[in-house]
Amino acid sequence: MRTLVDLHNHLLPGIDDGAPDLATAISLAQLAVEDGITHMVCTPHIHPGRYDNTQATIATALSQFKQGLTERGINLKVSAAAEVRFGMELMEWAVTGQLPFVGEYQGKNVLLLEFPHGEIPFGAEKLIKWLISKEITPMIAHPERNKGIMAKPSKLKPFLQLGCLTQVTAQSITGGFGSACQEIAHKFLAEEKITIIASDAHNIQHRPPKIADAFGVIETLTNKQQADQIAANAAEIANIHFSQAA
Ligand SMILES: [Fe+2]
Repeated sequence: MRTLVDLHNHLLPGIDDGAPDLATAISLAQLAVEDGITHMVCTPHIHPGRYDNTQATIATALSQFKQGLTERGINLKVSAAAEVRFGMELMEWAVTGQLPFVGEYQGKNVLLLEFPHGEIPFGAEKLIKWLISKEITPMIAHPERNKGIMAKPSKLKPFLQLGCLTQVTAQSITGGFGSACQEIAHKFLAEEKITIIASDAHNIQHRPPKIADAFGVIETLTNKQQADQIAANAAEIANIHFSQAA
């Protein structure tokens, strides 16, 4: 049985547009466990002016969440990083060590990077080259939901050529974000452009922490080996978070 690791979700309570409080975070954690997820790296937004999270605010929310899970005996291993909005601030944060990483891949730190939904921002390739020169590998969050990429999927290619990883959202694969988004997700799957899938969970009703169904679709559309590989990539990237845990 494959290990299900969720590397992009907004379960940490009260610090972004995900779980508003601990009770909701716990309910979401229970759903994740029911889905078969065993490990989660929680990734609240860092988006200057909108969600001004820092390593400190994230660490506080994580410890509250961990304590809640322990008190209720919920068997879910959790850690935290962030989904970091594209912007020039990234350079300063990289230099000063303020960037939270979702993990490591091939010896490099992995940054979950969010573009604006409507486009690929001007200067994206330049900033990504700079990050890579600093031994940071960007993992592009849900490219299949980016309107610029949806209009022209080949816009993803330069980023892959630079060495970026990709995180496709599970609900895109199962059709929860509509057929256009699903088509692009399936196209990227067929072209083997998906590094990992993740839930990007925000809430119970519309965006729950579920990834098992998407793995079922992947297996049907491709084969078991490819589904296993995508699951293994997430486990490998997240390993640094859990191998050091007490
Ligand atoms: Fe997200």
